[in-house]
Amino acid sequence: MPIQRTFIMVKPDGVKRGLIGEIIKRFEQKGFTLLNAELMTISREKAEYHYMELQDKPFFGELVDFITSDSVFAMVWEGENIIEVSRSMIGKTSPLEALPGTIRGDFACSKAENVIHGSDSLLSAEREIANFFDPLSIRPINKDFPYDER
Ligand code: PPS
Repeated sequence: MPIQRTFIMVKPDGVKRGLIGEIIKRFEQKGFTLLNAELMTISREKAEYHYMELQDKPFFGELVDFITSDSVFAMVWEGENIIEVSRSMIGKTSPLEALPGTIRGDFACSKAENVIHGSDSLLSAEREIANFFDPLSIRPINKDFPYDER
């Protein structure tokens, strides 16, 4: 199984509801390694770049308004197959489809304010991590990263 890095962000609703600790706990218990984390407010420019794949969606403006409305908790995590595994831990976007036991299934009941974001592919993870963190600030647990897949 490939060791990967991913970008995980607790959204403003998750920060306000005090869910940062719960989310970190779930990722640590799963065996993943936290490489960097920061509580921050983000500019519209950063948010628009982060969500660039959704720029033609009717809810794009609303999504950018929401993510820039208050603090987010941005993180870089590393682990085996973490992109796919973290997406299943996070759960589906639709509250009707997010299963109990997933983060959204347990804590979210809206498509827009749904507590957490996680990268959906290796390419997105690379772009999103670079948008939020200086590469030199990421804990060099494994200096040879990326290990394979390229
Ligand atoms: S889509 O339409 O299938 O591409 O979108 P989806 O994968 O369901 O969601 C992508 C991100 O958009 C957010 N989202 C919304 N924000 C505001 N308003 C509405 N109506 C809305 N619908 C979806 C959703 O929370 C996803 O955010 P991230 O941070 O990428 O998980």
